[in-house]
Formats: sequence, structure tokens, C-alpha cells
Amino acid sequence: MTSPVLAGARVLLGVSGGIAAYKAADLVRRLREAGAEVRVVLTESAARFVTALTFQALSGQPVRSSLWDEAAEAAMGHIELARWADEILVAPASADVLARLAHGQANDLLTTVVLASTAPLSVAPAMNHQMWTHAATRANVETLRARGVRVFGPASGAQACGETGEGRLLEPLDLIAELAAARGPRPLAGLRVLVSAGPTFEDIDPVRFIGNRSSGRMGFAIAEAAVAFGAEVELVAGPVALPTPTGVRRRDVRSAREMREAVLTAVPSSDIFVSAAAVGDYRPAEPSALKLKKTGASRALELVQNPDILAEVGRLAPRPLLVGFAAETDDLELHARDKLERKGLDLIAANRVGENLGFECAENALLLLWPGGREELAQADKRVLARALLQRVAARYRETRGATP
Ligand code: PMT
Repeated sequence: MTSPVLAGARVLLGVSGGIAAYKAADLVRRLREAGAEVRVVLTESAARFVTALTFQALSGQPVRSSLWDEAAEAAMGHIELARWADEILVAPASADVLARLAHGQANDLLTTVVLASTAPLSVAPAMNHQMWTHAATRANVETLRARGVRVFGPASGAQACGETGEGRLLEPLDLIAELAAARGPRPLAGLRVLVSAGPTFEDIDPVRFIGNRSSGRMGFAIAEAAVAFGAEVELVAGPVALPTPTGVRRRDVRSAREMREAVLTAVPSSDIFVSAAAVGDYRPAEPSALKLKKTGASRALELVQNPDILAEVGRLAPRPLLVGFAAETDDLELHARDKLERKGLDLIAANRVGENLGFECAENALLLLWPGGREELAQADKRVLARALLQRVAARYRETRGATP
């Protein structure tokens, strides 16, 4: 389907070596369906996985892979390609190509074209999960991000090597959605977005606590997407082991009461509050100052209710646009609508938890509800869903508050 922001775009697709290179063939087809003109540059390693002929047939254009192609370089072909592109997308981007791009190397056609071009650069990493989390790759990705390079994915899941983890290439349609969002208008420009993410921990004694299985991924993806959409973003994070997305101001908290304090402090300077945190509803009435000892008898733990942060913000006037989440195991829509109304929200994102969705995992599926409306967002990587959710949030902001500043 033609995309208004990709129609007519001149996309140079760089394909580097890795098993995910086969997905780049479908990506070419989808980009052309979206209305883009596509030219492909293969690295020498990519050409070992997929042939130039495949890309030539799909793009309808000659495919280049060598800097030493005498015919093409007679007319400075690499400079011509660099000037032709108004978007460069490297998908899949291997650990090696990310390293070479981060260090400004120009030792093959792809890296030379990138260096010689003023077109915005996007990379879609794909590699073994250990390579993705290696400190060297992390540093290279941060260098690229700091330079304004967009990083799409990677997704998590089963890998070609037989292991499971983060490092899969995003699906072609998800990559197209990312590219379209990056090229499109920035729907939250000028707005201040507050996001809460992760679990809360309620101490029982100095070594034990009550927590939950939230990893923070959903909220962190929302914070990252809000920055990409032009917002100023503050993130209140429960105890999670995730790096802070670039451009986000982060405040770490532990308990629900600490989260309440951080949120209430930030709310007066926020236009939108997205409450993705899994806040513990109860805490031990009297946490012990000393480690509780085993007594041989059963023990009862008295719990008292925590403050409902979102409901409290909902009672403030004025208040930011309020976006809540509902994590449900049953009757998703019924319970979510009840929370939407009871907490006075502008929108609620309901997720069914369990079945490898919701808590902890890389993917989710959301049902968005607002007074008088609903939209289903099919299962996808949380980063892809975060962008779709924020498109709807921006629309709600315009409907209820008028134009963005
Ligand atoms: O972190 P991940 O592993 O990526 O998982 C994501 C998620 C499943 C945690 C996330 O998508 C999600 O659903 N977050 C909300 C979970 C939850 O606490 O739902 P709830 O139905 O109990 O709460 C409803 C809303 O009220 C939520 O917006 C919650 O942040 C808020 N709340 C709840 C209790 C409380 N005491 N204070 C609150 O503000």
C-alpha cells in the first residue's frame, strides 16, 4: 500500500552479511509497494547470502557491491549513489557494519556511500544476541545514535544460531512503519511527556520484597518513541535493568510511594502522562528492620493498600492528558473500560497478559480504548507498538486540547 511519506522517496538499501539478508529481498518489494524508488548496495558478505540478481529483479535497478567496478566508477558511481539517495537504510546491519559506520570507515562501497551522503541514515541491526549485547556493539550503537542515526530494532526471539534473544531483524513491514514514522511529521513536537515504567518493589525486610514481572520494556519503548516524535521526555523507572533511551531524562524509584512522589513532582510540567508501570497495589504493613528468621511455624503477612497514582493524577486540575494501561488475564475490554472510566483517563491501552505477551517479553498486543472509540494494535515488537500508541495519543491530545503547541 502506498505510504504518503515514502511515495517518491529515493531509498538506498544497504544489505550487509547475515542470514537475515534474505528478508531484505521482501523489504525491497514492500518499499516499492509503499511508493519508494529503491537501489540496493550489497556488501561482499551479503552477496554470499543472497544474489545481486534477486535484488536487481525486485528493485528494477542495477545492484552495486564493489567499489572497484570500473564501468560504474568511470562516472564516480559511488558519489552519484550518495547524491541520489534521500534515505539510506542499512538492513540488516551486521555488528561489523555498525562498527565500521561508527568509526567512519570507508573500506567498501556501502560505507563509502554512507560517508559521502547527506541523506538521513537508519540502521536495522541483526546479529547473534551475544554480539548485540557486547560492550563494543553497545558503544558503536550509542555513537551512531548520538550522531542522529536512527536505530530500528532489533527484535527478540529465536535466532538462526538456535539461541534465543535480542538480535533479530525487524519484519519488513515493521521496518517500513519505522521509516515512515521517522520521515513523517513529529506529532508530539513541543509537548512534554511523562512516562512511568517497570515494577515497584515493596520491602518485607532488608532482603525480601514483593514485586512483579514487569521488565520495563513497554514503558521504555514508549519513552524512546516519544523522543523520536519530538517530545521532551521524563521517565520514572521502577527497578529494571534497561539502559536509558537517548534523549530521555530518567528518575529511578523502588516502591509505589517513591513512584507516586516522583510522578506528582513531574506532573505539573507534563502535557501527557503515560502510566505503563506495574505499580504494586499492596505493600507490607510493617516492613521489618531486621531479616525475618525462619520459625518453623507458618507466618501471615499483613498488607495495606498502596496509593493509586494514576487515579490521584486523574483528580488533579489542571492535569495532563492521561494514558493508562490495563493488564488483564480475562475480560480484557470490560475491565479496561471500567478502569478508563473509574480513573478518569483519556485513553487506556489494554494488554492481555500471559501467552508470551505483556509482562517480560519483547512483544505485546494492545487494545486501545477511549471515550467513544477503540482500536486494536496487533501483536508486534513493543517498540513498533509504542509508536502506533503514541500516534493515537497525539490524536487524542489534538481532539481534547486543540493543536499541539
Ligand atoms: O514492563 P513490561 O515487561 O514491558 O510489561 C508491560 C506491562 C504488561 C507491565 C504494561 O504493558 C502494563 O500493562 N502496565 C500496567 C500494568 C498494571 O499495573 O495494570 P493495572 O491494571 O493493575 O493498573 C491500571 C493502571 O493504573 C496502570 O496504568 C497502572 O500504571 C496504574 N496504577 C495501578 C496501580 C496503582 N497503585 N497505581 C497506578 O498508577
